[in-house]
Amino acid sequence: MPIANAVRASLERGSWIRKMFEAGIELKASLGPDAVYDFSLGNPDLEPPAEFLAALKAAASSGELGSHAYMTNAGYPFARAAMAEKVALEHGVPTTSDDVVMTVGAAGALNVILRTVVNPGDEVVVVRPYFAEYSAYVDNAGGVLVVADSAPDFSLDPDAVARVLSPRTAAVIVNSPNNPTGRVYPASAIAALAAVLSRHAAASGRAPYLVVDEPYRDIVYDGVAVPPVLSAYPESIVASSFSKTLSIPGERLGYAAVNPACSDKALLTAGLAASNRVLGFVNAPAMMQRAVAASWRAKADVSRYERRRAMLSAVLDEAGIRYARPEGAFYLFCEAPAAAAAAAAPGESADVAFAMALKDRGVLSVPGVGFGYPGWIRLCYCVPEATIEGSRKAFLATMASYRG
Ligand SMILES: Cc1ncc(COP(=O)(O)O)c(C=O)c1O
Repeated sequence: MPIANAVRASLERGSWIRKMFEAGIELKASLGPDAVYDFSLGNPDLEPPAEFLAALKAAASSGELGSHAYMTNAGYPFARAAMAEKVALEHGVPTTSDDVVMTVGAAGALNVILRTVVNPGDEVVVVRPYFAEYSAYVDNAGGVLVVADSAPDFSLDPDAVARVLSPRTAAVIVNSPNNPTGRVYPASAIAALAAVLSRHAAASGRAPYLVVDEPYRDIVYDGVAVPPVLSAYPESIVASSFSKTLSIPGERLGYAAVNPACSDKALLTAGLAASNRVLGFVNAPAMMQRAVAASWRAKADVSRYERRRAMLSAVLDEAGIRYARPEGAFYLFCEAPAAAAAAAAPGESADVAFAMALKDRGVLSVPGVGFGYPGWIRLCYCVPEATIEGSRKAFLATMASYRG
């Protein structure tokens, strides 16, 4: 039975994360599970906070008639009101429940937003390196992915964004704290980006939406704060979730929140709710809306991730592998050594060669090519401390192998 060409092509390309996942299964079978160090998946291994678990139990046992029924596509009013309170606190704008649509994770929010604001052929700007799924999400909406560079230290480069804007730009997506670099964009960078977008809007007559993808907002280190974004630019929309901060990625709860100052706010929020329906999500999971509305103030134990960041950084330092020091999220983006490029097969990029060399010693990473950034690899450190400790020898041996 044939399948659509685009889906067949996507299956053939496969994602690097998927490839590494499959490599991990094979490696565990051949080397034994204790000799495989899997840094490939951003799947939090911490238990959800007690507040969330208690709220979930209460939601499950409420016995209220209709609590498992279909609802309005935007979600329960009380859950939307809770998210409005959260967004108002984080972004310094007077959001109300009317501005919020509950979604199936941040991924659902991004798909709903893009479906709502992108016409076929419209462009969506992302900053490289970027969360690999953006290209699929833009494609789902019939849009064209346009890539802007970040600065060499992976901070946001508003001038690079300015260079790729066009009259066809429907949206610009920024992700801070960033996957895969761990960068947090400061208020000055956000203000400069807002100025770029406003100038472009004045010159072209079309104001691109600024889509703020921030599922890692609460996972930050060293006292770094994630600045408000909505207060800097009116045509903006938050896409977020509780996947990372409450460690519930499998429960699929997120939201899209429209800036109350947005010019077509009523139309936009109606469009988001309609897209939730026609994309087949219909509405976000009912039980999770109840549980999260009652527990959203709880946070992941960031100190656990901080300890792992320190442990993995120490291993990389000892091995002589360069990396961007993460300010947030739970990824270390590492440069493939020059020797990896030299050892690469014809047509293979240094990051793929390095990831494969590490894999041969049981370490699973994701090559940067999957994030539009060859030459670097991503290691995810939401893994048990024993995985980090165990991986030390494999990192040292891989680097030693390059020295002959
Ligand atoms: C930057 C970024 N955006 C969106 C998502 C999707 O999050 P969710 O699981 O809530 O759909 C992820 C997941 O890893 C991510 O890293």
